[in-house]
Amino acid sequence: MRRYLYPYRYRLALLWTMVLLNICAGLAVPPLVGAAIDGPITDGDLGALWVFAGVIAGVGALDAVLNLIRRYFQTATAMAIEADIREAVYEHLQRLHTGFHDRWQTGQLLARVTVDLGMVRRFFAGGMVFAISSTGMTIIIMVQLFWIEWRLALIVAVAAVPLFLIGRGFFRNYLPAARKEQDQSGEVSSAAEESANGIRAIKALGRGPLMADRFEKEAEKLRVLGIRKNLIAAKSWSAFGAIASTMLGSTLVIGAIMVANGQLTPGLLTAFIMLQLNLLWPIEAAGWVMAHGNEAMSAADRVYEVLDTEPTIRDRPGAKAVDRSSIRGKLAFEGVRFSFDDDDREVLRGVDLEVRPGETLAIAGRTGSGKTTLVSLPSRLNDPTGGRITLDGTDIRDLKLESLRSVVTTAFEEATLFSMSVRENLALGRPNADEHDVEQAVRVAQAEFVYDLPYGLDTRIGEQGLSLSGGQRQRLALARAVVVRPAVLVLDDPLSALDVHTEELVEKALEQVLVDTTALVVVHRPSTVALADRVALLHEGRIAAIGTHSELMEGSPEYVDVLSAEAEGVAA
Ligand SMILES: Nc1ncnc2c1ncn2[C@@H]1O[C@H](COP(=O)(O)OP(=O)(O)OP(=O)(O)O)[C@@H](O)[C@H]1O
Ligand SMILES: [Mg+2]
Repeated sequence: MRRYLYPYRYRLALLWTMVLLNICAGLAVPPLVGAAIDGPITDGDLGALWVFAGVIAGVGALDAVLNLIRRYFQTATAMAIEADIREAVYEHLQRLHTGFHDRWQTGQLLARVTVDLGMVRRFFAGGMVFAISSTGMTIIIMVQLFWIEWRLALIVAVAAVPLFLIGRGFFRNYLPAARKEQDQSGEVSSAAEESANGIRAIKALGRGPLMADRFEKEAEKLRVLGIRKNLIAAKSWSAFGAIASTMLGSTLVIGAIMVANGQLTPGLLTAFIMLQLNLLWPIEAAGWVMAHGNEAMSAADRVYEVLDTEPTIRDRPGAKAVDRSSIRGKLAFEGVRFSFDDDDREVLRGVDLEVRPGETLAIAGRTGSGKTTLVSLPSRLNDPTGGRITLDGTDIRDLKLESLRSVVTTAFEEATLFSMSVRENLALGRPNADEHDVEQAVRVAQAEFVYDLPYGLDTRIGEQGLSLSGGQRQRLALARAVVVRPAVLVLDDPLSALDVHTEELVEKALEQVLVDTTALVVVHRPSTVALADRVALLHEGRIAAIGTHSELMEGSPEYVDVLSAEAEGVAA
């Protein structure tokens, strides 16, 4: 937290000064009123009374102005801090490896970046300032009370004991309840987010009511947890209020008796009661502040769970940058093993594979055999759990990540497009790409349809490119990878959504690009194999066979099996 507060230290110091002035101005009024009662009012001195009235009004006005400025300041500072943390979380999310996102539901992340951070901010802007200022205020008031009449002040002090006990019990129960509610709120966001993303699948399967049921259950849980939490708060607050009122009543009665006995002046009793009223409000609000503080603490915990997750894939110390022009493009897998986090099954069990510079190597294998996993390794979307991958003989972990990814580019099966213009989507991997690069890539990917969109290349495409067909999306994703002109191009089944005719056209154009590019291409259909110089068959976590298509057709029954099964799958 300190890291995020430090840049605002001067503003915060100013803020605290204003809080202090605010308190002093507020607490100057009761003694002034007391003095007015015992002085000019008792003596009937109208002139002096006017002076008192003027001073009291002046102090009140000052208090109001200070209050206004402080509140503005407080909110602005807290908002700025919130924005900083949100930015930090977002950047951090970008650095975390993809496995992190597999494990975390998007809704939970969303909740943390929005709701939880908002809660932390509100506490900083409201609760925390209030908590500290009311603590300061309580101390000053207590001193004043003891100074006015110590016997009455003792009653007030005694009441602090039950208040403290209730407060402690509250802390113990409220924190876990608040945490549960926040986690559940993440579940509800996740359910909503999944339904929004999967709306088509849900409708197509006729599962609207089922999903609504599921959502309702989660929402219901949230409701119950919310009520439970608020009940805990309500109980403590009422107890606080009851004790405070009892305290006020007792001092009023005893104080009146003391005035009657001449032990206390009416003015001092008035000042005492006024100060005590000032004390009531912080006490009653203490419950509210504790609730918010608690919530903010557990919200901060949730944000920190994200921030504290160390990126597992990062630059090794001494990693070197690589440059596109100095790369020949020899990619080698050496005894590569891989298993996903929290999963003992090994997807890859010792893959040895060498792709020569400029060669196009196809990867074939049954569905679920680990092809996507395998091709996620060269750009370090995942790191092998054993063995190593080298680029021109250097372990890719000794290369700077950013530069590695500018040299090795991957296009995935599921083409994710972003809500920006077509041009921006295409230039994502190479922001300085010029018009010619973009046009060439569009041609290679047979994506000329983009020119027919309402605004051509400047057409904004929707979230995930939903307004485009699957094949159109795939072609844009392919063009996006081609624009980068990487040394190593990795394509995960890039043509699966295309009709045979378009596929053929793309292949022809792609061949030209692939001439001087090392390429690793996952294929399902026999027709796509035509792109490749050689084919490797991935089977049970190893490369079971490697050679040209015709060699494998002759020598590997397993390969024939895989390809014909796929071909049938397409036909069916
Ligand atoms: N994020 C993940 N966490 C855990 N296991 C995973 C993850 N992704 C894939 N797997 C598992 O790893 C295995 C290989 O999956 P992978 O996606 O690499 O197969 P594939 O060969 O690309 O299949 P397809 O041909 O259907 O695309 C599968 O058994 C799958 O269940
Ligand atoms: Mg796959």
